[in-house]
Amino acid sequence: MAGKKAVRCVGVLTGGGDCPGLNAVIRSVTKTLLYDHGATVYGIYDGYAGLVEHRYERLDGPDVSNILTRGGTILGSSNKANPFAYFPPQKIGGKHEPPHDASARAKALYRKLKLDALVCIGGDGTMAIADGLIRRCGMNVVGVPKTIDNDLPQTDYTFGFMTAVQTATEAIDRLHSTAGSHHRVMVAEVMGRYAGWLALYAGAASGADVILIPEIPYDMAVVAAYVKDRYRRGKRFSIVCVAEGAKPRGGTMTVERVVADSPDPIRLGGIGHKVAREIEDLTGLESRATVLGYVQRGGTPCAFDRTLATAYGHHATELVCGRRFGRLVVMRRGRITSVPIQSIAGRVKKVPRNYPLLRAAQAVNTCFGR
Ligand code: F6P
Repeated sequence: MAGKKAVRCVGVLTGGGDCPGLNAVIRSVTKTLLYDHGATVYGIYDGYAGLVEHRYERLDGPDVSNILTRGGTILGSSNKANPFAYFPPQKIGGKHEPPHDASARAKALYRKLKLDALVCIGGDGTMAIADGLIRRCGMNVVGVPKTIDNDLPQTDYTFGFMTAVQTATEAIDRLHSTAGSHHRVMVAEVMGRYAGWLALYAGAASGADVILIPEIPYDMAVVAAYVKDRYRRGKRFSIVCVAEGAKPRGGTMTVERVVADSPDPIRLGGIGHKVAREIEDLTGLESRATVLGYVQRGGTPCAFDRTLATAYGHHATELVCGRRFGRLVVMRRGRITSVPIQSIAGRVKKVPRNYPLLRAAQAVNTCFGR
């Protein structure tokens, strides 16, 4: 790399909710830096919490061996820790202390370890903080996009998404058994936050009769009429796949809890039971809800996510070693490339109305509550 200062030392952390493929990225980044570039790698524990609290460990080959297929993250994660509004760790039974700006502590660790760059693996929250570390603390950061929600702009896919789709699909396939045996309406609530990607893909893959997503506020009368019509045609069961962020026309999303010390305090949940109750009231057909929850975030990554995570990790090291900082690795039209981290901060990628899979599902008469 003529004319460019060689990269000697790199930190890596995983932020936000965990998802399948995080370890595959850690492995790819670490092995490439160790073996291809002779660099030193430090793993920072529990996302930005470890950066502030100076909890880290040097990673060598054996540390990242045999982790490609493992779910979760060997480094731990946090979807609360924000160096710019830092809540000190809560003592058991103790009260929350108010947040303060701890970014100087984060910067001090970056300096102490003599990091040339920090690879931040995470979703929108992690990238918004990464943007702050770049602009306010002068750190060199490269981002890698993860989330089962697939809601990061500028990228076709985040890793973790396809595994979650597969897990949710298999779960909904199983709900078909009870739906058929008991002639019931079975409602599956899937995650996805404010976007309907997971519900759309898992619903389409499992042949759900009704798919409800945040991008298309639903009319329950339409859903009930559709289910009753199926019944009249001899289909005595229906499968409904509802995104946790789905909402009725003119209504609001169903909030399960508010996490006070989180940068995004809203946690969605409960829409599945609400929808099942309303369908039963309007149709007279017995209805049940199943909330798939965190099983969607766990387990071994599928082959697509393993390869995507490996390619993303490799590209991240190329950006680091080419000193192209402040960039997020993405996939655009099937090609691995990068965009400025700043260009995605605070934005959510929603399912567009003309998205091919949405149109295909509508064409096979799937009901979207409209
Ligand atoms: O972003 C991933 C995700 O699993 C969302 O689908 C869900 O809304 C949220 O995280 C749950 O967050 P928590 O782990 O804080 O309950």
